[in-house]
Amino acid sequence: MRTLVTGAAGFIGSTLVDRLLAEGHHVVGIDNLSSGDATNLDRALRGEDASAGRFTLVKLDIQNPELVDVVSGINPDVIFHLAAQVDLRASVTDPQFDARSNVLGTINLCEASRRAGVRRVVYAASGGSRYGTPARLPVEEGSPLAPLSPYAVAKLAGELYLGAYAGMYGLEPICLALANVYGPRQNPHGEAGVIAVFGSALISGRPVTVYGDGTAARDYVYVDDVVEAFVQAAHAPASVTGTYNIGTGRQTTVAEVHRLIASLQPESAPPLYADARTGELQAIALDTRRAKQDLGWSPAVDVAEGIQRTVQWLRTVPGLAPISSAGRPIGARSAGEEVRSAS
Ligand SMILES: NC(=O)c1ccc[n+]([C@@H]2O[C@H](COP(=O)([O-])OP(=O)(O)OC[C@H]3O[C@@H](n4cnc5c(N)ncnc54)[C@H](O)[C@@H]3O)[C@@H](O)[C@H]2O)c1
Repeated sequence: MRTLVTGAAGFIGSTLVDRLLAEGHHVVGIDNLSSGDATNLDRALRGEDASAGRFTLVKLDIQNPELVDVVSGINPDVIFHLAAQVDLRASVTDPQFDARSNVLGTINLCEASRRAGVRRVVYAASGGSRYGTPARLPVEEGSPLAPLSPYAVAKLAGELYLGAYAGMYGLEPICLALANVYGPRQNPHGEAGVIAVFGSALISGRPVTVYGDGTAARDYVYVDDVVEAFVQAAHAPASVTGTYNIGTGRQTTVAEVHRLIASLQPESAPPLYADARTGELQAIALDTRRAKQDLGWSPAVDVAEGIQRTVQWLRTVPGLAPISSAGRPIGARSAGEEVRSAS
């Protein structure tokens, strides 16, 4: 397949790129490198796994009018649309910036798809934010929509535009409404992604802060399971379109996440507690029966196993190891030591 991945240098996008290359597909990645990191694409760019010549990275903003020519030039069989402004709090402080990236950028992508005659677009929607505070958990796709932040509104608008292009021009979009995704390459320095944030803090010997009493619960889905859902959506029959929840259906509390990570990191400091942050959901979990039925997808990695894999990866991230009395991070490499792959 000829594939296009927007947001290719990001956490999920780069993991998808590696998977597509490993399966023998041709991949063009588009990214403006705003929150993504080109080093996530080192393997792809070096042509490992016999992928030499099958990957190209184009540095481009999805709002740029040039996108139309770029997509036509590639003429992909499928577009995976993951590029987005992903910082929820930034969307609150600057909703117009968020909308330019996530709404206007997605419209530009819809237009580019239409003009290039691309039918299948697989979109990274937000399952954690599209339902607001659902009355019942796990929440189904048909439950009332209640986006409560500019980010949530913009991500939902992306789904709606893709749906409108399906009706007007025969696009065959599949929107994967993702739960809380975690795993290797999630930015451990960012604010989002409690597993990456807690994991990196505990590995560095810093205590973590739990906002609220630790009972807030999320549906954590491992990145490889999410990538599997994107691949299965790409191969789904043309009649399969619409929105599919991608999660585990399970609620895991913040306290449980801390306990699981601390159990892998002896002598972890106990968490510090702070007031709950206003506007944060108490609990969310996604019902994924529809994805199982139509896409044949279900998650394979449970949260204990996924956390173990993530912590293993975090231990290889330069700068995260605790400082020893000699002033060198414990476990850090010295010059000339072998550099091992991070994933
Ligand atoms: N991580 C999660 O838990 C989660 C949950 C639900 C939905 N999603 C969605 O999945 C997608 C990927 O998220 P992620 O966690 O990998 O985040 P990420 O920040 O690692 O990846 C996003 C990528 O998009 C790029 N980008 C941002 N704006 C761009 C623009 N205007 N033009 C071109 N590139 C741009 C960034 O540089 C980055 O590489 C996003 O669409 C996000 O909304 C993520």
